[in-house]
Amino acid sequence: MASTRSFFERLRTICADVGFDLERVRPSILARMRLLAETTETLNDCERAVRIAKDVFRYYDVSKPLKRFTALERRIVVIGTLFSDVGKSGPAGATLDGQQLVVEMFAVESGIDERTSVARFFEVYFPADAARRARRFGALGLDAGMTMREFWNLHSAWTLHILQGDGVPMEAVPAAATHHILENVNPDSIISESGHFTKYFGEHASFERPEKLVILLDKYDAARRRGHCTHDRAIAVLREVIAKNHRFCGDRGFLEIIEDLDEVMKVPEVHPPAPGESVARTTGAPTPFSAPCARQTRPLVAERWPPSPPARGTRTIQSGRAPPRRDRGPRSRSPDPARR
Ligand SMILES: [Fe+2]
Ligand SMILES: [Fe+2]
Repeated sequence: MASTRSFFERLRTICADVGFDLERVRPSILARMRLLAETTETLNDCERAVRIAKDVFRYYDVSKPLKRFTALERRIVVIGTLFSDVGKSGPAGATLDGQQLVVEMFAVESGIDERTSVARFFEVYFPADAARRARRFGALGLDAGMTMREFWNLHSAWTLHILQGDGVPMEAVPAAATHHILENVNPDSIISESGHFTKYFGEHASFERPEKLVILLDKYDAARRRGHCTHDRAIAVLREVIAKNHRFCGDRGFLEIIEDLDEVMKVPEVHPPAPGESVARTTGAPTPFSAPCARQTRPLVAERWPPSPPARGTRTIQSGRAPPRRDRGPRSRSPDPARR
């Protein structure tokens, strides 16, 4: 879990990077973020996604300067990513007890069939006080007969309601709240059929590149950490998710960002050394994600763009080809590890 000692410092630094003063956020929102950081991997996930976002920005600065991300877009991506899962602390009006209950539910990450009811989930994962938890769940105005999928899907709307008008830059709120639109979760119908937002969010009026990047960062990171996917598999998962979505199937904006993520995040392969060259394998080396991550407290992704030059005597290629199966991480336990 996140180190709470440095919690505010970590948040403050990320926000300051895009010119936003964390002190403007309502203390109750920060308290929710802290609760999530103490109990779940949420802050670590968001922090890692922000780091990847910055690599994407740098990649555009260098490789696509005419399409580089504007200051507003960067702010939307970074702040939107950072606060996207604050809804995992429960509904906007939840008491501290209700927040604690919901956070502990989101802290359980593996082995859950999404068709399981919340009541059954409590029996399996919290057998000592399942009935009491079901009652606490009911006290939030929620029905423990709902499926876990229905429960998980609620957190986008909770994010929207928690963040609205409470100090987080309004331009970043839709990016946070729409980060599960590919699962057709469109809280309060904030994205219209035309792609315009149905509420006023300052300078930013429609669902565009920053929102798409926030979504793909979240899914890429989920596939890598929770799904234990290799980079290549994670990119394939992103393509599959887009291909399956009736609204965004073939969406050029999403597809371009997937290509960007592929370019920025892939692990360089190393040719067999020519005679006289030293051997420095990177293909089979552990990636930053290959270690078990559940108790990881430091960021898992170092700055990756621009890539550092290969060691002397090695020749690298940048290919998206998957390494042999023995070099990949364990297979995903879920058919779609990026969905939560
Ligand atoms: Fe989420
Ligand atoms: Fe997330």
